[in-house]
Amino acid sequence: MAPRSLEPIFLLMIVVVSVVPVTVKAAYSSIHEVLKSHGLPAGLFPESVKSYNLDQRGVLEVHLDRPCMAKYENRVLFETVVRANLSFGHLKGLEGLSQEELFLWLPVKDIIVDDPSSGLILIDIGFAHKQLSLSLFEDPPICRSQGISMKMAGRKSIGFQDQR
Ligand SMILES: *[C@@H]1O[C@H](CO)[C@@H](O)[C@H](O)[C@H]1NC(C)=O
Repeated sequence: MAPRSLEPIFLLMIVVVSVVPVTVKAAYSSIHEVLKSHGLPAGLFPESVKSYNLDQRGVLEVHLDRPCMAKYENRVLFETVVRANLSFGHLKGLEGLSQEELFLWLPVKDIIVDDPSSGLILIDIGFAHKQLSLSLFEDPPICRSQGISMKMAGRKSIGFQDQR
């Protein structure tokens, strides 16, 4: 039989136990939800996004811990900060994103999904447009930092002048 004087302690324990899970902060980043709500596939950014900011003008800034590389159809390089103007179906004026094309790293300028029912996504790399299957971008990819030289990842743009 528990003495009555211990009851407040039991009550306190119950309160503590039920409060603790609430203070565990979810590390989940909802950038992928933001993309989906703008008619874009969640996998355009890797799962390792640290944080993001979207202002009222639609300026999106996505932060990663370090530059990293992911594989879709080709390899794509994410810099530590990726910026773009976000509107429905559009990521325009991208900065901090390049993709490999025939051994060249080309900055990606725009990513557009005009008609989701077409199953196609348009990648604009300046002088060329590529149409790819939306399904390539469905799930956030794993993005790896190994093997990326910091010098390369720190450049504003990586283009022809870097090739010899
Ligand atoms: C992105 O948005 C900013 C602020 O609204 C604007 O000044 C800039 O011209 C836009 N850039 C592109 C490429 O749309």
